[in-house]
Amino acid sequence: MNGSNFDKKLTEDECERLKKSKKKQKGEDAWRPQGPRDPFTMLDSLTEKKQQEIQKALHLFSLGPSLPRNMQQAKKHTYRFWETQPVPRLGDIITTHGPIAESEVNVRKEAYSLPQGFSWDTLDLSSPRILKELCTLLNDNYMEEDDNTYKFNFSQEYLQWALQPPNWLPQWHCAVRVESNKKLVGFIAAVPADIRIYETEKRMVQVKFLCVHKKLRLKRMTPVLIRELTRRVNQQGLCHAIYTAEIVLPTPLSSCRYWHRPLNPRKLVEVSYPGLRQNMNLQRALKFNRLPKVTKTPGLRPMTKEDVGEIHSLLQTNLSKFHLSPILSTQEVEHWLLPQDDVIDTYVVEGQDGTLTDVVSFYSVSSRVLNHLVHTDLKEAYLLYISCTATDPAGLMEDTLVLAKSKGFDIFCALDVMDNMSFLEKLKFSISNKSLHYYLYNWMCPNMSSDKVGLVLPN
Ligand SMILES: CC(C)(COP(=O)(O)OP(=O)(O)OC[C@H]1O[C@@H](n2cnc3c(N)ncnc32)[C@H](O)[C@@H]1OP(=O)(O)O)[C@@H](O)C(=O)NCCC(=O)NCCS
Repeated sequence: MNGSNFDKKLTEDECERLKKSKKKQKGEDAWRPQGPRDPFTMLDSLTEKKQQEIQKALHLFSLGPSLPRNMQQAKKHTYRFWETQPVPRLGDIITTHGPIAESEVNVRKEAYSLPQGFSWDTLDLSSPRILKELCTLLNDNYMEEDDNTYKFNFSQEYLQWALQPPNWLPQWHCAVRVESNKKLVGFIAAVPADIRIYETEKRMVQVKFLCVHKKLRLKRMTPVLIRELTRRVNQQGLCHAIYTAEIVLPTPLSSCRYWHRPLNPRKLVEVSYPGLRQNMNLQRALKFNRLPKVTKTPGLRPMTKEDVGEIHSLLQTNLSKFHLSPILSTQEVEHWLLPQDDVIDTYVVEGQDGTLTDVVSFYSVSSRVLNHLVHTDLKEAYLLYISCTATDPAGLMEDTLVLAKSKGFDIFCALDVMDNMSFLEKLKFSISNKSLHYYLYNWMCPNMSSDKVGLVLPN
């Protein structure tokens, strides 16, 4: 059974429900292990060390089909699924603004069919057991490139923060399980968001945490997850979405680059952190990345709940400069920014008269370092927002690096969105080879440069 049969099965399903035929029986086997010669069973029977060697070799030689990472590759790729979706075609020059498809009047009532042996589930994240299951799925499988050196280590608190902002809906935490043992093998989530795109304000969803278990990859589960989530979102009367990906899909609204700033260069060298500048020995790297011991900005302090209203105004004024930005309620500002250990940090600058003049926030992504004799974990800080009315952004950002380092972060990552380019190079961030593309579902508008993007979507 290959992917194309499974896709065909889905298309039929949409039109007239699947006919019970031999073809369907074949289709239903899509995600099943393939008998005694199943390669995964064979892999499982090898020692952990052997598995790691194979995985590293595969990664090194990039065997297997991979999705486009740039426009040139994208132009040669056939997007069998995305070509059927209301998204702009690659290469189209768009000058108008508006929806691509009419909103669904009669939203399909039944969930999309899954191959036999699999079933849909709505994850109740208020249950610690289920939250833990989701952590396990994501920590073991939410890696695009897996060379067995790192694994994400999302905490339950982090997932609650990322997946349960104000007005979240349980049915948008959409999962696939194996029926026989209830194992979680697929996940996709949406959370509500009000987004401004140029002059238009739209209530839509942010799509997050698309994940298919490693053993079920390349079997076309993703299109089914996306279709089912779209149906569940349409059921609430919404028909637009925003999402980001490192791969090129039809069609990026904007393409940004990640920049990295080492905070703990020794550890990063020791764990061979990907994308680190290679042209420096350790002594030079330590000297080059040295930071002041203490912060310099007067009035800099952690955000408290009482700051929500003022931060809300500061952010909204700043974000209105960009072509793409969130319209945040005060509840959302509180949810996304109020500090939580190992999840989100926010600092404000309080002027002498007590008013807040500046704000900066970053979220925390932890990973486990695999197969290393000394190091077991890695902490990355990701810049969320920085908005300054009185302090020089480079000065506030340098203080943020000092604070992040003092909190045990190993590296600080930022996208070249908003006005971030004004301080990235100055503060010794270096550009990584990773891009991040922003996409809109069912909305067309001219594309924009990364400095016009006023939005960061944590995983
Ligand atoms: C991303 C992931 C779910 C894709 O699964 P897969 O088994 O490789 O792909 P499938 O066979 O299920 O589906 C392939 C289709 O999904 C699309 N697809 C793959 N990754 C996608 C993504 N991140 N966003 C949207 N569509 C994606 C492909 O383009 C393809 O459609 P096409 O024929 O139109 O090109 C899987 O690789 C994964 O879990 N990766 C780790 C987590 C991750 O990177 N998530 C994405 C974060 S943006």
